[in-house]
Amino acid sequence: MSDSSTESSVLQVRGIGKSFPGVRALHEVDLVLNKSQVLGLIGENGAGKSTLMKILAGVQPPDEGEVLIDGEIATIGSTRDALSLGIALIHQELNLATNLSVGANVFLGREPLRKGLIDDARINEESRKYLEMVGLDVDPTTLLGDLTIGKQQMVEIAKALSIDARVLIMDEPTSSLSQAETEYLFRVIKDLRKRGVSVIYISHRLGEVKELSNHVTVLRDGENAGELTCEEIDHDAMVRLMVGRDLSGHFAKEQRETGEQVLEVRDLCTAVHPEHALSFSLKAGEIVGVAGLVGAGRTEMLETLFGAMPSVGGAIFVEGNEIELDSPVVAIRAGMALAPEDRKTQGLVIDMSVRENMSLASLDRDKRKCGFLNFAKENAITKAMIKSMRVKTPSDEQIVRYLSGGNQQKVVLGKWLAMKPKLLLLDEPTRGIDVGAKREIYGLMEELAKTGVAILFVSSEMEEVLGMADRAIVMHEGSITGELEADELNEENIMQLATGGGKAA
Ligand SMILES: Nc1ncnc2c1ncn2[C@@H]1O[C@H](COP(=O)(O)OP(=O)(O)OP(=O)(O)O)[C@@H](O)[C@H]1O
Ligand SMILES: [Mg+2]
Repeated sequence: MSDSSTESSVLQVRGIGKSFPGVRALHEVDLVLNKSQVLGLIGENGAGKSTLMKILAGVQPPDEGEVLIDGEIATIGSTRDALSLGIALIHQELNLATNLSVGANVFLGREPLRKGLIDDARINEESRKYLEMVGLDVDPTTLLGDLTIGKQQMVEIAKALSIDARVLIMDEPTSSLSQAETEYLFRVIKDLRKRGVSVIYISHRLGEVKELSNHVTVLRDGENAGELTCEEIDHDAMVRLMVGRDLSGHFAKEQRETGEQVLEVRDLCTAVHPEHALSFSLKAGEIVGVAGLVGAGRTEMLETLFGAMPSVGGAIFVEGNEIELDSPVVAIRAGMALAPEDRKTQGLVIDMSVRENMSLASLDRDKRKCGFLNFAKENAITKAMIKSMRVKTPSDEQIVRYLSGGNQQKVVLGKWLAMKPKLLLLDEPTRGIDVGAKREIYGLMEELAKTGVAILFVSSEMEEVLGMADRAIVMHEGSITGELEADELNEENIMQLATGGGKAA
Protein backbone atom coordinates (compact mmCIF):
# COMPACT_ATOMS: atom_id res chain seq x y z
CA MET A 1 0.00 0.00 0.00
CA SER A 2 2.41 2.60 -1.22
CA ASP A 3 0.19 5.64 -0.89
CA SER A 4 -0.81 4.92 2.68
CA SER A 5 2.46 4.19 4.44
CA THR A 6 3.44 7.81 4.58
CA GLU A 7 0.12 9.02 5.89
CA SER A 8 -1.31 8.42 9.32
CA SER A 9 -3.65 5.50 9.50
CA VAL A 10 -6.70 5.84 11.71
CA LEU A 11 -7.64 2.20 11.51
CA GLN A 12 -5.76 -0.90 10.52
CA VAL A 13 -6.93 -4.47 10.22
CA ARG A 14 -4.29 -7.20 10.40
CA GLY A 15 -4.74 -10.85 9.59
CA ILE A 16 -8.42 -11.04 10.44
CA GLY A 17 -10.04 -14.46 10.14
CA LYS A 18 -13.64 -15.48 10.71
CA SER A 19 -15.45 -18.74 10.03
CA PHE A 20 -19.04 -19.83 10.29
CA PRO A 21 -20.18 -23.47 10.13
CA GLY A 22 -19.19 -24.61 6.65
CA VAL A 23 -18.00 -21.16 5.54
CA ARG A 24 -14.67 -19.43 5.85
CA ALA A 25 -15.91 -15.86 5.56
CA LEU A 26 -12.57 -14.10 6.13
CA HIS A 27 -8.98 -15.33 5.95
CA GLU A 28 -5.94 -13.24 6.88
CA VAL A 29 -7.52 -10.02 5.74
CA ASP A 30 -5.60 -6.73 5.98
CA LEU A 31 -6.97 -3.25 5.48
CA VAL A 32 -5.73 0.29 6.10
CA LEU A 33 -7.89 3.38 6.49
CA ASN A 34 -6.18 6.76 6.51
CA LYS A 35 -7.33 9.95 8.12
CA SER A 36 -9.82 12.03 6.14
CA GLN A 37 -10.00 9.44 3.40
CA VAL A 38 -12.74 7.43 1.80
CA LEU A 39 -11.80 3.79 1.40
CA GLY A 40 -13.95 1.92 -1.10
CA LEU A 41 -14.46 -1.71 -0.09
CA ILE A 42 -15.71 -3.91 -2.89
CA GLY A 43 -16.13 -7.58 -3.71
CA GLU A 44 -18.64 -10.04 -5.09
CA ASN A 45 -21.68 -11.15 -3.10
CA GLY A 46 -20.44 -13.20 -0.19
CA ALA A 47 -16.86 -11.92 -0.40
CA GLY A 48 -16.90 -11.01 3.30
CA LYS A 49 -17.40 -7.22 3.29
CA SER A 50 -20.28 -7.05 5.76
CA THR A 51 -18.68 -9.68 8.00
CA LEU A 52 -15.52 -7.58 8.30
CA MET A 53 -17.46 -4.40 9.00
CA LYS A 54 -19.53 -6.13 11.69
CA ILE A 55 -16.26 -7.11 13.36
CA LEU A 56 -15.06 -3.50 13.31
CA ALA A 57 -18.37 -2.33 14.76
CA GLY A 58 -18.26 -4.88 17.58
CA VAL A 59 -21.31 -6.78 16.35
CA GLN A 60 -19.34 -10.02 16.22
CA PRO A 61 -15.79 -10.99 17.28
CA PRO A 62 -13.10 -12.20 14.87
CA ASP A 63 -11.59 -15.68 15.27
CA GLU A 64 -8.12 -14.26 14.77
CA GLY A 65 -6.24 -11.13 13.86
CA GLU A 66 -6.20 -7.66 15.29
CA VAL A 67 -7.55 -4.17 14.81
CA LEU A 68 -5.39 -1.11 15.44
CA ILE A 69 -6.75 2.35 16.13
CA ASP A 70 -4.20 5.15 15.79
CA GLY A 71 -1.52 2.48 15.67
CA GLU A 72 -2.53 0.82 18.91
CA ILE A 73 -4.23 -2.53 19.30
CA ALA A 74 -7.85 -2.04 20.21
CA THR A 75 -10.28 -4.41 21.86
CA ILE A 76 -13.69 -4.25 20.24
CA GLY A 77 -15.80 -6.59 22.32
CA SER A 78 -19.16 -4.92 21.85
CA THR A 79 -20.93 -2.28 19.81
CA ARG A 80 -20.46 0.02 22.80
CA ASP A 81 -16.67 -0.48 22.61
CA ALA A 82 -16.75 0.40 18.93
CA LEU A 83 -18.74 3.57 19.56
CA SER A 84 -16.38 4.71 22.28
CA LEU A 85 -13.49 4.17 19.87
CA GLY A 86 -15.35 6.40 17.42
CA ILE A 87 -16.42 3.71 14.95
CA ALA A 88 -19.97 3.96 13.65
CA LEU A 89 -21.56 1.47 11.24
CA ILE A 90 -24.54 2.33 9.11
CA HIS A 91 -26.08 -1.01 8.18
CA GLN A 92 -27.74 -1.43 4.84
CA GLU A 93 -30.99 -2.17 6.60
CA LEU A 94 -31.28 0.94 8.72
CA ASN A 95 -31.27 0.41 12.45
CA LEU A 96 -33.50 3.26 13.50
CA ALA A 97 -36.74 3.35 15.48
CA THR A 98 -39.34 4.67 13.05
CA ASN A 99 -41.91 5.20 15.82
CA LEU A 100 -39.69 7.68 17.68
CA SER A 101 -38.85 11.27 16.91
CA VAL A 102 -35.79 12.26 14.90
CA GLY A 103 -34.12 13.72 17.99
CA ALA A 104 -34.84 10.63 20.08
CA ASN A 105 -33.16 8.55 17.40
CA VAL A 106 -30.03 10.66 17.40
CA PHE A 107 -29.68 10.09 21.14
CA LEU A 108 -31.11 6.57 21.25
CA GLY A 109 -29.45 4.56 24.01
CA ARG A 110 -27.65 7.56 25.53
CA GLU A 111 -30.47 9.95 26.31
CA PRO A 112 -29.45 12.93 28.45
CA LEU A 113 -31.32 13.01 31.76
CA ARG A 114 -32.64 15.81 33.88
CA LYS A 115 -33.94 15.07 37.39
CA GLY A 116 -34.06 11.40 36.46
CA LEU A 117 -36.20 11.97 33.38
CA ILE A 118 -35.27 12.09 29.73
CA ASP A 119 -34.39 15.67 28.92
CA ASP A 120 -36.38 16.22 25.74
CA ALA A 121 -35.55 19.90 25.54
CA ARG A 122 -31.85 19.12 25.49
CA ILE A 123 -32.31 16.30 23.00
CA ASN A 124 -34.06 18.68 20.63
CA GLU A 125 -31.55 21.44 21.09
CA GLU A 126 -28.48 19.24 20.70
CA SER A 127 -29.81 17.11 17.86
CA ARG A 128 -30.66 20.25 15.91
CA LYS A 129 -26.94 20.98 15.80
CA TYR A 130 -26.07 17.59 14.32
CA LEU A 131 -28.97 17.64 11.88
CA GLU A 132 -27.69 20.97 10.67
CA MET A 133 -24.23 19.49 10.11
CA VAL A 134 -25.70 17.00 7.65
CA GLY A 135 -27.89 19.70 6.14
CA LEU A 136 -31.12 18.09 7.24
CA ASP A 137 -33.80 20.71 7.62
CA VAL A 138 -36.33 18.86 9.77
CA ASP A 139 -37.61 19.54 13.25
CA PRO A 140 -36.14 17.11 15.83
CA THR A 141 -39.67 16.33 17.03
CA THR A 142 -40.71 14.96 13.61
CA LEU A 143 -41.56 11.27 13.65
CA LEU A 144 -38.71 9.41 11.98
CA GLY A 145 -41.08 7.16 10.06
CA ASP A 146 -42.44 10.22 8.24
CA LEU A 147 -39.09 10.86 6.56
CA THR A 148 -37.91 9.30 3.29
CA ILE A 149 -35.27 6.57 3.52
CA GLY A 150 -32.69 9.08 2.33
CA LYS A 151 -33.47 11.47 5.14
CA GLN A 152 -33.54 8.62 7.64
CA GLN A 153 -30.04 7.82 6.48
CA MET A 154 -28.99 11.40 7.16
CA VAL A 155 -30.35 10.95 10.69
CA GLU A 156 -28.05 7.92 11.04
CA ILE A 157 -25.14 10.08 9.96
CA ALA A 158 -26.18 12.84 12.38
CA LYS A 159 -26.20 10.19 15.07
CA ALA A 160 -22.69 9.11 14.09
CA LEU A 161 -21.54 12.72 14.31
CA SER A 162 -23.11 13.09 17.74
CA ILE A 163 -20.90 10.30 19.08
CA ASP A 164 -17.99 12.09 17.46
CA ALA A 165 -17.30 9.21 15.08
CA ARG A 166 -13.91 9.26 13.46
CA VAL A 167 -14.58 6.24 11.34
CA LEU A 168 -17.90 6.00 9.55
CA ILE A 169 -18.72 2.74 7.81
CA MET A 170 -21.48 2.70 5.20
CA ASP A 171 -22.65 -0.67 3.92
CA GLU A 172 -24.43 -0.10 0.59
CA PRO A 173 -25.94 3.21 1.64
CA THR A 174 -27.47 4.24 -1.67
CA SER A 175 -29.43 1.16 -2.65
CA SER A 176 -32.74 2.70 -1.51
CA LEU A 177 -31.95 6.33 -2.24
CA SER A 178 -33.25 8.50 -5.05
CA GLN A 179 -30.74 10.13 -7.33
CA ALA A 180 -31.09 13.48 -5.61
CA GLU A 181 -30.65 11.87 -2.20
CA THR A 182 -27.58 10.03 -3.44
CA GLU A 183 -26.02 13.26 -4.70
CA TYR A 184 -26.81 14.86 -1.39
CA LEU A 185 -25.23 11.98 0.53
CA PHE A 186 -22.07 12.38 -1.53
CA ARG A 187 -21.84 16.04 -0.62
CA VAL A 188 -22.19 15.14 3.04
CA ILE A 189 -19.48 12.47 2.75
CA LYS A 190 -17.11 14.92 1.10
CA ASP A 191 -17.86 17.42 3.81
CA LEU A 192 -17.24 14.84 6.54
CA ARG A 193 -13.80 14.17 5.05
CA LYS A 194 -12.97 17.84 5.43
CA ARG A 195 -13.92 17.56 9.08
CA GLY A 196 -11.37 14.78 9.49
CA VAL A 197 -13.78 11.84 9.47
CA SER A 198 -12.63 8.73 7.61
CA VAL A 199 -15.14 6.65 5.71
CA ILE A 200 -15.31 3.03 4.60
CA TYR A 201 -17.74 2.88 1.69
CA ILE A 202 -19.18 -0.43 0.49
CA SER A 203 -21.14 -0.55 -2.75
CA HIS A 204 -21.82 -2.62 -5.82
CA ARG A 205 -22.31 0.60 -7.75
CA LEU A 206 -18.78 0.96 -8.98
CA GLY A 207 -19.39 4.41 -10.40
CA GLU A 208 -20.07 5.66 -6.89
CA VAL A 209 -16.98 3.94 -5.53
CA LYS A 210 -14.89 5.62 -8.20
CA GLU A 211 -16.37 9.02 -7.54
CA LEU A 212 -15.85 8.92 -3.80
CA SER A 213 -12.83 6.80 -2.99
CA ASN A 214 -9.22 7.79 -2.42
CA HIS A 215 -8.28 4.15 -2.30
CA VAL A 216 -10.01 0.85 -3.01
CA THR A 217 -9.57 -2.49 -1.23
CA VAL A 218 -10.95 -5.57 -2.95
CA LEU A 219 -12.01 -8.80 -1.25
CA ARG A 220 -12.54 -12.08 -3.05
CA ASP A 221 -13.73 -15.24 -1.30
CA GLY A 222 -12.83 -13.78 2.06
CA GLU A 223 -9.28 -12.82 1.14
CA ASN A 224 -7.51 -9.67 -0.03
CA ALA A 225 -7.67 -9.65 -3.82
CA GLY A 226 -5.90 -6.34 -4.43
CA GLU A 227 -5.65 -2.63 -3.84
CA LEU A 228 -6.16 0.31 -6.15
CA THR A 229 -4.65 3.69 -5.49
CA CYS A 230 -6.53 6.82 -6.40
CA GLU A 231 -5.13 7.01 -9.94
CA GLU A 232 -5.72 3.31 -10.58
CA ILE A 233 -9.42 3.29 -9.72
CA ASP A 234 -11.50 2.59 -12.79
CA HIS A 235 -14.44 0.36 -13.55
CA ASP A 236 -12.61 -2.40 -15.40
CA ALA A 237 -9.77 -2.59 -12.91
CA MET A 238 -12.25 -2.97 -10.07
CA VAL A 239 -14.20 -5.67 -11.89
CA ARG A 240 -11.05 -7.58 -12.76
CA LEU A 241 -9.94 -7.72 -9.13
CA MET A 242 -13.42 -8.60 -7.89
CA VAL A 243 -14.17 -11.47 -10.20
CA GLY A 244 -10.64 -12.48 -11.16
CA ARG A 245 -11.41 -12.24 -14.86
CA ASP A 246 -12.52 -9.76 -17.49
CA LEU A 247 -16.21 -9.17 -17.96
CA SER A 248 -17.39 -7.61 -21.15
CA GLY A 249 -20.71 -6.98 -22.85
CA HIS A 250 -22.75 -6.07 -19.80
CA PHE A 251 -26.19 -6.21 -21.37
CA ALA A 252 -27.56 -9.10 -23.33
CA LYS A 253 -30.28 -7.18 -25.20
CA GLU A 254 -31.21 -9.04 -28.35
CA GLN A 255 -33.83 -8.84 -31.03
CA ARG A 256 -36.83 -10.88 -29.98
CA GLU A 257 -40.16 -11.79 -31.54
CA THR A 258 -43.06 -10.49 -29.51
CA GLY A 259 -46.34 -12.38 -29.45
CA GLU A 260 -49.91 -11.91 -28.32
CA GLN A 261 -50.89 -9.47 -25.64
CA VAL A 262 -50.36 -11.07 -22.22
CA LEU A 263 -51.36 -8.27 -19.89
CA GLU A 264 -53.78 -5.44 -20.21
CA VAL A 265 -54.15 -2.95 -17.39
CA ARG A 266 -57.22 -0.72 -17.60
CA ASP A 267 -57.52 2.31 -15.32
CA LEU A 268 -55.97 0.58 -12.35
CA CYS A 269 -56.06 2.71 -9.21
CA THR A 270 -53.81 1.89 -6.30
CA ALA A 271 -54.79 2.65 -2.72
CA VAL A 272 -51.75 4.90 -2.35
CA HIS A 273 -52.49 7.09 -5.37
CA PRO A 274 -56.23 6.56 -5.97
CA GLU A 275 -56.46 9.76 -8.03
CA HIS A 276 -54.35 8.34 -10.85
CA ALA A 277 -55.68 5.67 -13.20
CA LEU A 278 -52.94 3.50 -14.72
CA SER A 279 -53.29 1.89 -18.15
CA PHE A 280 -50.82 -0.04 -20.27
CA SER A 281 -50.28 -3.45 -21.84
CA LEU A 282 -47.56 -6.03 -22.33
CA LYS A 283 -46.97 -8.62 -25.05
CA ALA A 284 -45.49 -12.08 -24.77
CA GLY A 285 -41.70 -11.93 -25.03
CA GLU A 286 -41.51 -8.25 -24.16
CA ILE A 287 -39.26 -6.79 -21.50
CA VAL A 288 -40.68 -3.50 -20.25
CA GLY A 289 -38.97 -1.29 -17.70
CA VAL A 290 -40.76 0.89 -15.18
CA ALA A 291 -38.62 3.92 -14.48
CA GLY A 292 -39.16 6.76 -12.06
CA LEU A 293 -37.75 8.26 -8.91
CA VAL A 294 -37.97 6.54 -5.55
CA GLY A 295 -41.51 7.13 -4.27
CA ALA A 296 -43.11 7.44 -7.72
CA GLY A 297 -45.54 4.61 -6.91
CA ARG A 298 -43.86 1.88 -8.94
CA THR A 299 -43.76 -0.74 -6.19
CA GLU A 300 -47.37 0.00 -5.28
CA MET A 301 -48.36 -0.51 -8.90
CA LEU A 302 -46.66 -3.92 -9.11
CA GLU A 303 -48.09 -5.04 -5.79
CA THR A 304 -51.59 -3.95 -6.75
CA LEU A 305 -51.32 -5.78 -10.08
CA PHE A 306 -50.30 -8.89 -8.20
CA GLY A 307 -53.11 -8.55 -5.69
CA ALA A 308 -50.73 -8.10 -2.78
CA MET A 309 -52.14 -4.63 -2.15
CA PRO A 310 -55.81 -3.66 -2.42
CA SER A 311 -56.89 -1.80 -5.55
CA VAL A 312 -59.51 0.93 -5.56
CA GLY A 313 -60.58 0.67 -9.16
CA GLY A 314 -59.83 -0.62 -12.63
CA ALA A 315 -59.40 -4.04 -14.18
CA ILE A 316 -56.63 -6.26 -15.43
CA PHE A 317 -56.69 -8.96 -18.07
CA VAL A 318 -54.23 -11.80 -18.51
CA GLU A 319 -54.40 -13.31 -22.00
CA GLY A 320 -57.77 -11.64 -22.44
CA ASN A 321 -59.36 -12.98 -19.26
CA GLU A 322 -60.23 -10.58 -16.50
CA ILE A 323 -58.39 -11.44 -13.30
CA GLU A 324 -59.80 -10.74 -9.89
CA LEU A 325 -57.59 -8.16 -8.22
CA ASP A 326 -56.75 -8.29 -4.49
CA SER A 327 -55.60 -11.90 -4.40
CA PRO A 328 -52.03 -13.09 -5.02
CA VAL A 329 -53.30 -16.67 -5.17
CA VAL A 330 -55.49 -15.80 -8.14
CA ALA A 331 -52.62 -13.89 -9.72
CA ILE A 332 -50.24 -16.85 -9.38
CA ARG A 333 -52.88 -19.19 -10.84
CA ALA A 334 -53.24 -16.87 -13.79
CA GLY A 335 -49.50 -17.25 -14.39
CA MET A 336 -48.16 -14.13 -12.70
CA ALA A 337 -45.14 -13.94 -10.44
CA LEU A 338 -43.76 -11.05 -8.39
CA ALA A 339 -40.21 -10.83 -7.06
CA PRO A 340 -40.59 -8.07 -4.48
CA GLU A 341 -38.23 -5.29 -3.56
CA ASP A 342 -37.92 -6.05 0.12
CA ARG A 343 -36.44 -9.52 0.07
CA LYS A 344 -36.17 -10.05 3.80
CA THR A 345 -39.82 -9.56 4.65
CA GLN A 346 -41.59 -10.50 1.43
CA GLY A 347 -39.45 -12.58 -0.83
CA LEU A 348 -37.95 -15.15 1.48
CA VAL A 349 -38.71 -17.45 4.34
CA ILE A 350 -35.59 -16.40 6.16
CA ASP A 351 -35.34 -19.45 8.42
CA MET A 352 -35.83 -22.02 5.70
CA SER A 353 -33.12 -23.51 3.51
CA VAL A 354 -31.99 -22.30 0.11
CA ARG A 355 -33.56 -25.38 -1.47
CA GLU A 356 -36.91 -24.90 0.24
CA ASN A 357 -37.02 -21.22 -0.66
CA MET A 358 -36.17 -21.77 -4.28
CA SER A 359 -38.74 -24.47 -4.81
CA LEU A 360 -41.61 -22.79 -2.95
CA ALA A 361 -43.19 -21.00 -5.86
CA SER A 362 -42.77 -23.69 -8.47
CA LEU A 363 -44.03 -26.42 -6.11
CA ASP A 364 -47.30 -24.60 -6.08
CA ARG A 365 -47.35 -24.60 -9.85
CA ASP A 366 -46.73 -28.32 -10.07
CA LYS A 367 -49.34 -29.07 -7.46
CA ARG A 368 -51.78 -27.20 -9.62
CA LYS A 369 -50.78 -28.99 -12.78
CA CYS A 370 -50.60 -32.60 -11.72
CA GLY A 371 -51.85 -32.81 -8.18
CA PHE A 372 -48.62 -34.02 -6.57
CA LEU A 373 -45.15 -32.69 -5.89
CA ASN A 374 -42.24 -33.65 -8.03
CA PHE A 375 -39.33 -33.45 -5.62
CA ALA A 376 -36.68 -34.83 -7.92
CA LYS A 377 -37.49 -32.21 -10.50
CA GLU A 378 -37.53 -29.40 -7.97
CA ASN A 379 -34.17 -30.48 -6.64
CA ALA A 380 -32.73 -30.40 -10.11
CA ILE A 381 -34.16 -26.91 -10.74
CA THR A 382 -32.73 -25.62 -7.47
CA LYS A 383 -29.30 -27.04 -8.25
CA ALA A 384 -29.34 -25.55 -11.74
CA MET A 385 -30.38 -22.15 -10.39
CA ILE A 386 -27.72 -22.11 -7.67
CA LYS A 387 -25.19 -22.86 -10.33
CA SER A 388 -26.35 -20.48 -13.04
CA MET A 389 -26.78 -17.57 -10.63
CA ARG A 390 -23.63 -18.47 -8.74
CA VAL A 391 -25.31 -18.39 -5.33
CA LYS A 392 -22.56 -18.59 -2.74
CA THR A 393 -23.75 -21.10 -0.15
CA PRO A 394 -22.01 -24.03 1.55
CA SER A 395 -24.93 -26.28 0.50
CA ASP A 396 -28.53 -26.30 -0.74
CA GLU A 397 -29.54 -26.88 2.85
CA GLN A 398 -28.02 -23.67 4.28
CA ILE A 399 -30.56 -21.48 6.09
CA VAL A 400 -31.13 -18.35 4.02
CA ARG A 401 -30.63 -16.04 7.03
CA TYR A 402 -26.91 -16.84 6.93
CA LEU A 403 -26.33 -15.91 3.30
CA SER A 404 -24.88 -12.53 2.40
CA GLY A 405 -27.34 -9.82 1.32
CA GLY A 406 -26.75 -10.24 -2.39
CA ASN A 407 -26.97 -14.00 -2.24
CA GLN A 408 -30.35 -13.77 -0.52
CA GLN A 409 -31.49 -11.60 -3.40
CA LYS A 410 -30.33 -14.24 -5.87
CA VAL A 411 -32.38 -16.89 -4.07
CA VAL A 412 -35.54 -14.76 -4.32
CA LEU A 413 -35.01 -14.20 -8.01
CA GLY A 414 -34.07 -17.80 -8.66
CA LYS A 415 -37.31 -18.86 -7.07
CA TRP A 416 -39.42 -16.82 -9.47
CA LEU A 417 -37.31 -17.43 -12.54
CA ALA A 418 -37.56 -21.19 -11.93
CA MET A 419 -41.32 -20.84 -11.99
CA LYS A 420 -41.41 -19.77 -15.65
CA PRO A 421 -44.56 -17.66 -15.31
CA LYS A 422 -46.43 -16.03 -18.21
CA LEU A 423 -45.93 -12.65 -16.68
CA LEU A 424 -43.00 -11.85 -14.43
CA LEU A 425 -43.03 -8.75 -12.27
CA LEU A 426 -39.62 -7.81 -10.91
CA ASP A 427 -39.06 -5.03 -8.40
CA GLU A 428 -35.47 -3.76 -8.44
CA PRO A 429 -34.17 -7.17 -9.57
CA THR A 430 -30.47 -6.43 -9.17
CA ARG A 431 -30.39 -4.29 -6.05
CA GLY A 432 -27.37 -5.28 -4.01
CA ILE A 433 -26.18 -7.78 -6.61
CA ASP A 434 -22.56 -7.83 -7.80
CA VAL A 435 -21.51 -7.09 -11.38
CA GLY A 436 -20.90 -10.68 -12.42
CA ALA A 437 -24.20 -11.97 -11.09
CA LYS A 438 -26.08 -9.03 -12.61
CA ARG A 439 -25.00 -10.28 -15.98
CA GLU A 440 -26.35 -13.73 -15.20
CA ILE A 441 -29.67 -12.20 -14.18
CA TYR A 442 -29.94 -10.10 -17.35
CA GLY A 443 -29.14 -13.23 -19.32
CA LEU A 444 -31.88 -15.17 -17.54
CA MET A 445 -34.38 -12.38 -18.21
CA GLU A 446 -33.50 -12.48 -21.91
CA GLU A 447 -33.81 -16.25 -22.00
CA LEU A 448 -37.22 -16.16 -20.35
CA ALA A 449 -38.43 -13.46 -22.71
CA LYS A 450 -37.28 -15.54 -25.66
CA THR A 451 -39.55 -18.35 -24.51
CA GLY A 452 -42.47 -15.92 -24.50
CA VAL A 453 -42.54 -14.71 -20.90
CA ALA A 454 -43.58 -11.07 -20.56
CA ILE A 455 -41.41 -9.20 -18.07
CA LEU A 456 -42.25 -5.96 -16.30
CA PHE A 457 -39.39 -4.69 -14.17
CA VAL A 458 -39.05 -1.71 -11.89
CA SER A 459 -35.57 -0.28 -11.72
CA SER A 460 -33.97 2.85 -10.35
CA GLU A 461 -30.78 2.17 -12.23
CA MET A 462 -30.84 4.17 -15.41
CA GLU A 463 -28.25 1.92 -17.03
CA GLU A 464 -30.37 -1.13 -16.40
CA VAL A 465 -33.52 0.37 -17.90
CA LEU A 466 -31.62 1.62 -20.93
CA GLY A 467 -29.76 -1.65 -21.30
CA MET A 468 -32.54 -4.17 -20.69
CA ALA A 469 -35.90 -2.66 -21.59
CA ASP A 470 -37.49 -2.93 -25.05
CA ARG A 471 -39.80 -0.15 -23.96
CA ALA A 472 -40.21 1.86 -20.75
CA ILE A 473 -43.11 3.17 -18.71
CA VAL A 474 -42.16 6.21 -16.65
CA MET A 475 -43.94 7.19 -13.46
CA HIS A 476 -44.05 10.37 -11.43
CA GLU A 477 -45.96 10.86 -8.17
CA GLY A 478 -48.30 7.98 -8.75
CA SER A 479 -49.17 8.54 -12.39
CA ILE A 480 -47.75 7.26 -15.65
CA THR A 481 -46.25 10.33 -17.27
CA GLY A 482 -45.24 8.60 -20.47
CA GLU A 483 -44.18 5.53 -22.37
CA LEU A 484 -40.94 5.42 -24.30
CA GLU A 485 -40.51 3.19 -27.32
CA ALA A 486 -37.08 1.74 -28.12
CA ASP A 487 -36.10 4.69 -30.32
CA GLU A 488 -37.08 7.23 -27.65
CA LEU A 489 -35.41 5.40 -24.82
CA ASN A 490 -32.66 7.63 -23.52
CA GLU A 491 -31.59 9.13 -20.24
CA GLU A 492 -32.90 12.58 -20.99
CA ASN A 493 -36.42 11.40 -21.82
CA ILE A 494 -36.57 9.21 -18.73
CA MET A 495 -35.45 12.04 -16.45
CA GLN A 496 -37.89 14.47 -18.05
CA LEU A 497 -40.86 12.17 -17.50
CA ALA A 498 -39.67 10.99 -14.09
CA THR A 499 -39.59 14.54 -12.82
CA GLY A 500 -43.03 15.35 -14.17
CA GLY A 501 -41.97 17.05 -17.40
CA GLY A 502 -42.79 15.97 -20.94
CA LYS A 503 -40.75 14.03 -23.47
CA ALA A 504 -37.92 15.95 -25.10
CA ALA A 505 -38.47 16.64 -28.77
N1 LIG B 1 -23.97 -15.57 10.68
C1 LIG B 1 -23.54 -16.27 9.64
N2 LIG B 1 -23.63 -17.62 9.60
C2 LIG B 1 -23.18 -18.35 8.56
N3 LIG B 1 -22.59 -17.81 7.47
C3 LIG B 1 -22.45 -16.48 7.44
C4 LIG B 1 -22.92 -15.63 8.50
N4 LIG B 1 -22.63 -14.33 8.18
C5 LIG B 1 -22.04 -14.38 6.97
N5 LIG B 1 -21.91 -15.66 6.52
C6 LIG B 1 -21.28 -16.10 5.27
O1 LIG B 1 -20.04 -15.46 5.17
C7 LIG B 1 -19.76 -15.11 3.80
C8 LIG B 1 -19.50 -13.62 3.69
O2 LIG B 1 -20.72 -12.92 3.87
P1 LIG B 1 -20.84 -11.32 3.88
O3 LIG B 1 -22.21 -11.01 4.33
O4 LIG B 1 -19.72 -10.77 4.65
O5 LIG B 1 -20.66 -10.99 2.34
P2 LIG B 1 -20.69 -9.58 1.59
O6 LIG B 1 -19.35 -9.39 0.97
O7 LIG B 1 -21.19 -8.53 2.51
O8 LIG B 1 -21.73 -9.86 0.41
P3 LIG B 1 -22.94 -8.95 -0.23
O9 LIG B 1 -22.33 -8.11 -1.28
O10 LIG B 1 -23.84 -9.98 -0.85
O11 LIG B 1 -23.59 -8.19 0.87
C9 LIG B 1 -20.95 -15.58 3.00
O12 LIG B 1 -20.67 -16.84 2.44
C10 LIG B 1 -22.05 -15.68 4.03
O13 LIG B 1 -23.00 -16.63 3.65
MG1 LIG C 1 -23.00 -7.41 2.62
